[in-house]
Amino acid sequence: MNKRKFLETAGAASAAAVLLAVKPTQAQAPAVGVNVLVVYHSVTGNTEKMAHGITEGARSVAGANVVLKRVGEVVADDLLASDAVIVGSPVYFASMSGEVKTFFDNWSLKFGLFRELKMRNKVGGAFVTGAAISNGKEVTMQAIHAAMLVNQMSIVSGGGAFGASATTGPDSPGIDEKALESARALGKRVAEFTAVTKRGSRT
Ligand SMILES: Cc1cc2nc3c(=O)[nH]c(=O)nc-3n(C[C@H](O)[C@H](O)[C@H](O)COP(=O)(O)O)c2cc1C
Repeated sequence: MNKRKFLETAGAASAAAVLLAVKPTQAQAPAVGVNVLVVYHSVTGNTEKMAHGITEGARSVAGANVVLKRVGEVVADDLLASDAVIVGSPVYFASMSGEVKTFFDNWSLKFGLFRELKMRNKVGGAFVTGAAISNGKEVTMQAIHAAMLVNQMSIVSGGGAFGASATTGPDSPGIDEKALESARALGKRVAEFTAVTKRGSRT
């Protein structure tokens, strides 16, 4: 290769290197604004602590606007404005608590969201707390997912195979750092996934 050819080749290679270096990776892509609604029911405070962890994780994602509400405080506009909804419940007799079920029932009875599938394609996630290691946490998360799926939402896991969870009975550590880490992981993953789908749907 003569000197001129060598310099041309080297120039092309370094230009390619510069292009590769500045090409944004997914993590560096411009932040997309996503609205994440975290909703929970809690009587003795365990699920509430997890809800704060979920919120913290979601807020760690650039562009995420996160609203935290108890089930009874949510109005239709909160749900309509959301891009993602993460619902938390205590395990009551191996399912979601009555308050959380009423919240979902209201999507049809009170908020008028179900008939026209107004929650369609929004992202959903679930978190739970239960007293015992194996007395219904996973089926409760699946019950929450099922209610979301009927509304044609897209389900995302994180923090655990089905979502975030904690065991809270007297012999357990309760809502410790490990449980909060799982909560933060779910919140972060839901916000990140929502940003990816929203960015992808832009025309
Ligand atoms: C009516 C009732 C039913 C419950 N059923 C279960 C159950 O089936 N499985 C379980 O692991 N814990 C069960 N628990 C325990 C709660 O799920 C647990 O204490 C939970 O962390 C409470 O959440 P909170 O502190 O956010 O109210 C039950 C508690 C109540 C009050």
